[in-house]
Amino acid sequence: MKIFALPGNSMLAHGIVRQLEAEPGYFTVRRFPDGESYVRLHCDVEGQQAVIVSTLFQPDDKILPLYYLTKLLKDSGAQSVTLVAPYLAYMRQDKVFNPGEAVTSDYFAVLLSSFVDRLITIDPHLHRHGSMSELYTIPCKVIHAAPLLSDWIRQNVVSPVIVGPDSESEQWVSEVAQKAGAPFLVLEKVRRGGHDVDVSIPVVEPYASHTPVLVDDIISTAHTMIETVKHLRATGMAPPVCIGVHPVFAGNAFYDLITAGAAEVISCNTIQHPSNRIDVAGILATTISECYQTIIRHDKE
Ligand code: R5P
Repeated sequence: MKIFALPGNSMLAHGIVRQLEAEPGYFTVRRFPDGESYVRLHCDVEGQQAVIVSTLFQPDDKILPLYYLTKLLKDSGAQSVTLVAPYLAYMRQDKVFNPGEAVTSDYFAVLLSSFVDRLITIDPHLHRHGSMSELYTIPCKVIHAAPLLSDWIRQNVVSPVIVGPDSESEQWVSEVAQKAGAPFLVLEKVRRGGHDVDVSIPVVEPYASHTPVLVDDIISTAHTMIETVKHLRATGMAPPVCIGVHPVFAGNAFYDLITAGAAEVISCNTIQHPSNRIDVAGILATTISECYQTIIRHDKE
């Protein structure tokens, strides 16, 4: 097996290579002066399994280099190409909200499914879909970061109460809370637009002496967390710790969240960001290894 890291993924890929004792794959990807992509392979992949690590944050810049590398690996004899995309893009526009809109989650799934053989991702934004197979036609393995969040909370927060921003988050917020041995609250959120979010004022009296820990799958504009932080601060609770699995942090979102009164903002390294404290390399390595054990078993049968 060879592990290839698209630009911006080398730290995470290095962690995976180390844990799997796999070989890194060597290649060049760069831009021509006219903006087109140049891709060149510098290693042998004949008969091997290739894994490409490419988080799909800001996907439009990444999708063509990813496509070219995948095609090149297959043309060079790789048996299969697995995409490890810790953050999977285009999962939020999953219905027509306004007439005439493209349901890009469907289109993107068709595109990716047409050239990679397998997808491994972490907590994809599956709010209106029950499973990845409703969108993707290739085998997909979904990893949940909840146990990692719980471990971090247990080790770092005294007397936490876990707070989820909306009813959709209840299932995994309750899992994080249960594994962290903490109580939880789930709020009601109304989103009126990309930057306009309102969150219900939580009933916090029973948890007045606890440290609120806000958890969400994605922090993008951070408006969801900022509204929640403001409400919690107004009740006199301790400054909240904010945890996001995927630190998208559009524009000034990170700074805005800190200045809104968060005690600390932390994230998983599904997207490289200064807030990264929870390393996902271990669970990715374990999942890659399990997938390949399955492939090897099938090949032998
Ligand atoms: C929404 O359903 C998600 O779980 C997050 O709450 C949302 O993506 C956060 O977005 P923002 O940071 O822009 O408020």
